[in-house]
Amino acid sequence: MPDSRVPRPRRFLVCEPRHFAVQYAINPWMHPDTPVDVDLARGQWEALIRAYRAHGHTVDSVEPVAGLPDMVFAANSALVLAGRVFGSLFHAPQRRPESTAYETWFKAAGFDVYRPESVCEGEGDLVPAGRYVLAGTGFRTTPEAHREVQEFFGVPVISLRLVDPRFYHLDTGLFVLDDGHEANIAYYPEAFSPGSREVLARLFPDAVLATREDAMAFGLNSVSDGRHVFIAPAATALADQLARRGYVPVPVDLSEFQKAGGGIKCCTQEVRS
Ligand code: ARG
Repeated sequence: MPDSRVPRPRRFLVCEPRHFAVQYAINPWMHPDTPVDVDLARGQWEALIRAYRAHGHTVDSVEPVAGLPDMVFAANSALVLAGRVFGSLFHAPQRRPESTAYETWFKAAGFDVYRPESVCEGEGDLVPAGRYVLAGTGFRTTPEAHREVQEFFGVPVISLRLVDPRFYHLDTGLFVLDDGHEANIAYYPEAFSPGSREVLARLFPDAVLATREDAMAFGLNSVSDGRHVFIAPAATALADQLARRGYVPVPVDLSEFQKAGGGIKCCTQEVRS
């Protein structure tokens, strides 16, 4: 099994943390009085971009907008499948203007953008996994948006209920290891309602199950290219499990972004052509 994992090159969209700050609290990780070390944040973010490029991935960048401190979390801007862009409609009024800023980038890059009618926070809650799109609800993205996503892409959408406010986006409690036809995932079961846990166990009997420590270290907010897993260095137990299954953990520390409730995947939008 080890060494049989084949990476697939990705196209990522990111947003430089020029205006990153913690100015309001819209999840339990955020405390508006916590100062952010802007230089450290920038250094950590640049290390992530370097790691992606060093592993053969393409990284595009959207121009950051002053006054939008969470815009660095590019994953929330859209879900892109087969070159079709399903845009975002943020729950928090503070983040709503981000949608237009990203839409401008997508249009300039040659994509049409569908504007959702219901609250929908992009890849934060929408995770393509093989034949399905896994979709989180409970804190941000609504079940109505799940139906819009299914109608737009014609792909079966599996609604999953998130129950722990620390794991308010699906991508804080689950990530995809391989997104081929036989997709596999890693997740933290306690982030989900009992019924949703059962759904995940049925669909992914071979999934990697993470501990609370892994989840609290943002270990589930990882990005996998099918072989390399860009992962928070503090998620040691999860990294060990992945290595035993033939994946190659690539530790990238985004500790400064955890003050806003974000990690590696939050900073990364995948543009799937
Ligand atoms: N402060 C941001 C928020 O609460 C963090 C977003 C993290 N993004 C993600 N894909 N989980 O909206």
